[in-house]
Amino acid sequence: MSRIEQLLERMTLAEKLGQLTMTASSYAVTGPVIVGDSTQAIMDGTIGNLLNMVGAVPVHDMQRLAVEHSRLKIPLLIGFDVIHGHRTLFPIPLGEAASFDPVLWASTAREAAREAAADGLAMTFAPMLDVARDPRWGRIAEGPGEDPWLGARIAEAKVHGFQGVDLAAPQALAAVAKHYCAYGAVTAGREYASVDISERTVREVYLPAFAAAVAAGVAAVMPAFIDLAGVPMTANVALLRRRLRDEMGFEGVIVSDYHAIAELIAHGIAGDLAYAATLALKAGVDIDMMGDAYRRGLPEALARGWVTMDEIDTAVRRVLSLKERLGLFEDPYRRGATPESAESVAARRRLARLAGCRALVLLKNDRDVLPLAGQDLRLAVIGPLADSSADMRGPWPGAAAPEGHVTVVQGLAGMLGVDRVLHAAGVAIEGDDMTGAAAALELCVHADAVLLCVGESASMSGEAASRAHLGLPGRQREFATAVFERARALHKPVIVVLFSGRPLAVPWLVEDADAVLAAWFLGSEAGNAIGDVLLGHASPCGRTPVTWPRAVGQVPIFFGARPGGRPDNPMDHYTSKYVDVPDEPLFPFGHGLSYGRFTCANLRVPREPVTQRETIVVRVDVSNEGARAAEETVFLFTHQRVASVSRPVLELRGFAKISLSPGETGTVSLLLPVAELQFLGLDLEPVFETGAVEILVGPCADRRRLLAGSIQLRRA
Ligand code: NOJ
Repeated sequence: MSRIEQLLERMTLAEKLGQLTMTASSYAVTGPVIVGDSTQAIMDGTIGNLLNMVGAVPVHDMQRLAVEHSRLKIPLLIGFDVIHGHRTLFPIPLGEAASFDPVLWASTAREAAREAAADGLAMTFAPMLDVARDPRWGRIAEGPGEDPWLGARIAEAKVHGFQGVDLAAPQALAAVAKHYCAYGAVTAGREYASVDISERTVREVYLPAFAAAVAAGVAAVMPAFIDLAGVPMTANVALLRRRLRDEMGFEGVIVSDYHAIAELIAHGIAGDLAYAATLALKAGVDIDMMGDAYRRGLPEALARGWVTMDEIDTAVRRVLSLKERLGLFEDPYRRGATPESAESVAARRRLARLAGCRALVLLKNDRDVLPLAGQDLRLAVIGPLADSSADMRGPWPGAAAPEGHVTVVQGLAGMLGVDRVLHAAGVAIEGDDMTGAAAALELCVHADAVLLCVGESASMSGEAASRAHLGLPGRQREFATAVFERARALHKPVIVVLFSGRPLAVPWLVEDADAVLAAWFLGSEAGNAIGDVLLGHASPCGRTPVTWPRAVGQVPIFFGARPGGRPDNPMDHYTSKYVDVPDEPLFPFGHGLSYGRFTCANLRVPREPVTQRETIVVRVDVSNEGARAAEETVFLFTHQRVASVSRPVLELRGFAKISLSPGETGTVSLLLPVAELQFLGLDLEPVFETGAVEILVGPCADRRRLLAGSIQLRRA
């Protein structure tokens, strides 16, 4: 008999429910806390899993309680939110998505896993795969942006990065794909609000990233807090049991979100914990994170005949089998056994700097004001985010201390010398304090250029951080306007470094600035990465993974919309548009400048009709007509103009990068498996419809800037 079956035979109900329970240590919490000492419960075997604790010593201490002092000696599974780094922080996921670099996506996950595993951890509640098209929602910062195909590529890279090839390796973490699913579609962008969207949209937009994570072998999945058309995800049989388990074939662990099973009562579908626990178990949820509904509710549910021991055993088996795959039974102390070397810590910082450089998106660069050049360059680095180490961490700081994350002031001072960087904050991020404005404005007089570092604080995005306004908070607009005026009078350029966990609707800022760099929150090496790009040590190459609106009223705005019967036509009043704001976004998906100047020409697509068994190659020539070496990203979109169901005007199918010297031309080849042109037909079953499909290639999701060709689909 296997170890797991032997254990199951010996376990009491309380011990089984312990394996289905995950409790927070007091290290960090993100919701209601269960008060009390877990130590005794671990020894009693009634808590089998922990979250929010870090450090090899405390983790091993806890592990010892379980494997030396509990009756069945089952090791604990200990998880933590290692979202974009653990102690060393990488760019927030939305920023990292902007790199369009699968190797980088996997590498940062790998490094985060190594660092977290060295802290004794075995599970991360990541990757967050919620496609989001509404920047009011703060959690857009944690995810892959607006596109399902991009989300799927990030899912694969992250799962491989966190888990590696062998989950039992001392550096591997079990990944948790979250939050399943459609959390990004909360009504009006309001956190935890209800979601009510079509099944087609759920399947076309919100599920592909999860399907990709499952195909990549993700160990666990976390249902979202929300309800979908009245059915909370934590109890959603159709999506968890049928779609995820039966259809996608997911055999791993489903771990609830924090307190989510108990919240089925607040959702209004359960009257008590016993029924809440019943609903979650029946939907396939194995681990109850912080709801304490399984321990308190399932004994009663069992007594009333609402659940069976078999159903409980199935969940316990999955949890034990994950612990087995993680190698915890062989050696529960393997993670955190050897301290990390100074070299690997330094290499991780270098990776953070590279990731930061590649995540930066140069939104505007008039008259090539960037990169900054000149002997004895002196800069006024002003604004509330110029020297705020804690904010560089972004909304999920992991186990990182507030200090030690390089700010713009520190980065530039390191590169240019302290006396070349003049700094004053000028204004607070939020609130009324503008007492430092005059001093900051005065610095502009003594500088060659002004770097205006404005935006959101780290805590204005992430969980429970929805915003109804997408402008600069506090009095920053007033301050920025004064800076623009003063700089204009002095004939000095103003470069805006814009920090945010989401796209901001700031057309006035873009209009007035000479250059704008979207800096998201880049993590521990933020200031060095920003300095590298500002001073031209690296050419920017990030592309926005989400559309930037001009006005909140345009939200949700995304490139994958359907054409509608009356697409916008400025010559015709009765077409789809606003009367008070242009139809176009502030910046389209994929937008981002570099220090090169690229053109695409000579699009080649197959002339013969193709079948869904083939993979076609789309080629395009790219030339760098600028004066500096740089990297260009080329996107491949398709559009099936005539199909049984109206298709989005652009669907992302691929991207490729090419580095070119000044004057150089190269060819980019993009592969397109024709089977990917299948879509969900009228009955929501996959269909492949023959006919013409447009192939559109170019620098961003703006049709006017894309080269267009067309292929013919035929039956095999
Ligand atoms: C709640 C969040 O929704 C989830 O993403 C996170 O993993 C848990 N808290 C645990 O911190």
